[in-house]
Amino acid sequence: MHSPTTLLKLIEQSINDISYPTYPSSLYEPISYIMSLGGKRIRPTMLLMATDLFSGDIQKAIPAALAIETFHNFTLIHDDIMDNAPLRRGRQTVHEKWGTNTAILSGDVMMVEANKHITRVELAVLKPALDTFNATAQGVCEGQQLDMEFENRDDVSIEEYIDMIRLKTAVLLGGAMKLGAIVAGANDQEADHIYDFGENLGIAFQLQDDILDVFGDPEKFGKQIAGDIIANKKTFLLLKLQELVSPEDNPKLTQQFSNKDFEKKIQQVTRLYGNYKIRELATSEMKVYLDKAFKALNNIQVPESQKTEIIRLARQLMNREY
Ligand code: IPE
Ligand code: IPE
Ligand code: MG
Ligand code: MG
Ligand code: MG
Repeated sequence: MHSPTTLLKLIEQSINDISYPTYPSSLYEPISYIMSLGGKRIRPTMLLMATDLFSGDIQKAIPAALAIETFHNFTLIHDDIMDNAPLRRGRQTVHEKWGTNTAILSGDVMMVEANKHITRVELAVLKPALDTFNATAQGVCEGQQLDMEFENRDDVSIEEYIDMIRLKTAVLLGGAMKLGAIVAGANDQEADHIYDFGENLGIAFQLQDDILDVFGDPEKFGKQIAGDIIANKKTFLLLKLQELVSPEDNPKLTQQFSNKDFEKKIQQVTRLYGNYKIRELATSEMKVYLDKAFKALNNIQVPESQKTEIIRLARQLMNREY
């Protein structure tokens, strides 16, 4: 089995080797910019680990890994426009640096580049790979639309929230791992199990992202802290607070939704999170989905020793700081 560190090196090298057209430079510069800012590369790493799990050739999975990472970075550019985010990976967001129109178009052309990567998988697996890639991409758009709609609703249930993050975040991790399995020639049942593992891990991953959005260390997190509070995002934290808040505290919370003094707003909402132990509740919800992920992994019929790296990485992700 390859270690995540070895796989990460391979991924970084492969990303480095991509050459984009140079004209017009204003279209392609943002792509090189966002792709070179790093990030955890968790999706391509997990994709290659899935290939490895089913004893596939990881070299053959590189086009799929590049497709997924390129697609992910495209969604970040557009997500930052939608979320009005100033920072990404500790640097200016693409739309802040080049303007919204360029960010839209560079994102669009990244989707094309992602498609070009995925079509470079072996012909024998091209059809299932493309189907999986397309289903994944469509799911992300559906989730992103729900995420925005929820900003303006005050009756979102936790069940609806979980389904929204399943779509915007988890299907991509699930889809990445399924692609890794497809390239390795795994059968449909095995591919579905690894998909379930990735999807449940993805739900836990987004719960962690929601926690870090409020409680993360700004130096390490690399994104604006409390952007979700400012935008009235219906995160697990907020929905849980709405569920538990006392009649006495409720008006204090509700009035924050229209508070234009963002510093005060963040301070008030964070204080309520503390009073109601919301961080702890979100962390135990994460564990529920991590367990579901491990149950799905249990169903995969390969020697347990081949699963240890995936399990270790999944656990590490739950303790991440960025
Ligand atoms: C950010 O993804 C978007 C979410 C789904 C929370 P990552 O946290 O994987 O971002 P990078 O790629 O490591 O920067
Ligand atoms: C992540 O949602 C979903 C996608 C990027 C598709 P967030 O909006 O929470 O992601 P960050 O926190 O900006 O990375
Ligand atoms: Mg965002
Ligand atoms: Mg968003
Ligand atoms: Mg977030």
